[in-house]
Amino acid sequence: MSLPSQVKIIDVGPRDGLQNEKQPVPTDVKLRLISDLIEAGIRKLEATSFVSPKWVPQMGDNAEVMTGINENRHADVTYSVLTPNMRGFDNAIAYRPDEIVIFGSASEAFSQKNINCSIDESIERFAPVAESAKTHGIKVRGVISCTVGCPYEGDIHPDKVGYVTKKLVDIGAEHIGIADTIGVGTPIKVQKALESAFPYIDIGEISGHFHDTYGQALANTLRAVQMGVSQFDTSVAGLGGCPYAKGATGNVATEDVVYMLHGMGIDTGIDLDKLVDAGVRISEFLQRDNGSRVAKAILSKRNR
Ligand code: HMG
Ligand code: MG
Repeated sequence: MSLPSQVKIIDVGPRDGLQNEKQPVPTDVKLRLISDLIEAGIRKLEATSFVSPKWVPQMGDNAEVMTGINENRHADVTYSVLTPNMRGFDNAIAYRPDEIVIFGSASEAFSQKNINCSIDESIERFAPVAESAKTHGIKVRGVISCTVGCPYEGDIHPDKVGYVTKKLVDIGAEHIGIADTIGVGTPIKVQKALESAFPYIDIGEISGHFHDTYGQALANTLRAVQMGVSQFDTSVAGLGGCPYAKGATGNVATEDVVYMLHGMGIDTGIDLDKLVDAGVRISEFLQRDNGSRVAKAILSKRNR
């Protein structure tokens, strides 16, 4: 078994983590979370989404978040934003995102619910976005939702993941995220979803994005790491969920993934104690139970 010596963590808490919060989260709280994550060593994060504020009101302050970031921008941090269409891209571009994310689905029904179009229509919408991003020198990442299961269609065949991966790569996606949106995956199912992307993109440009609804995300992450995947989307304190995937909980907690990787001798560049502090601050603001088991363990040790 050959394990990667380093793993890149993309904290998606400010976007995936907060998009589902019912209570308004002030922009300065989001900016504080982002700066806490950077202070803890996170070097890539999803800052916000340029989606319709009618669909996802919580991301309606995308311009303010990006303006705040630009007032104190770190040259060594990659700031990614979600752009589902040209409207989103045109709105985002003035704020100089380092990377844009086009997000499709391996499930037709989820594609309709989440972005109001079929899979093939979504690719048509993404194509000019990817092309414009390239013209501006912005990296294009594709993420595929529902790669193992869908809240509307049930089990998803791995071939669908291969199909969408090829389409996204063909229009210019340089990286593909394999998402278990509703956290139903188990290690072998996730392995099959990942493997179906392999013919179309180098494993170094594949990431895992595992929600933890059924408590399987850490096991799925471990399986992916053992397969040689070296990038993961995670969310501090396990924040989050998708507004169009009812009942799905947040991504695997960044703290839990970092603890596991460090315990395996894999470097992440992240200071776990500072990361715990970041998770505590945002959980306290949201008056939400901290979703990280590792954070809870570290906090109880600190308080002893
Ligand atoms: P639509 O209604 O089909 O779009 O929505 P439309 O082009 O017909 O436009 C309708 C209205 O929205 C118009 O405004 C547009 O101007 C406006 P109106 O004339 O009614 O006033 N509009 C926009 N406004 C701001 N920004 C935009 C934009 N586009 C249109 N970019 C659309 C299509 C994609 C916009 C909509 O379905 C949408 O915003 N969906 C939200 C999707 C979303 O953010 N989901 C959560 C993130 S994805 C996720 O969490 C999964 C992931 O984590 C991986 C995983 O776990 O699976 C990534
Ligand atoms: Mg997600």
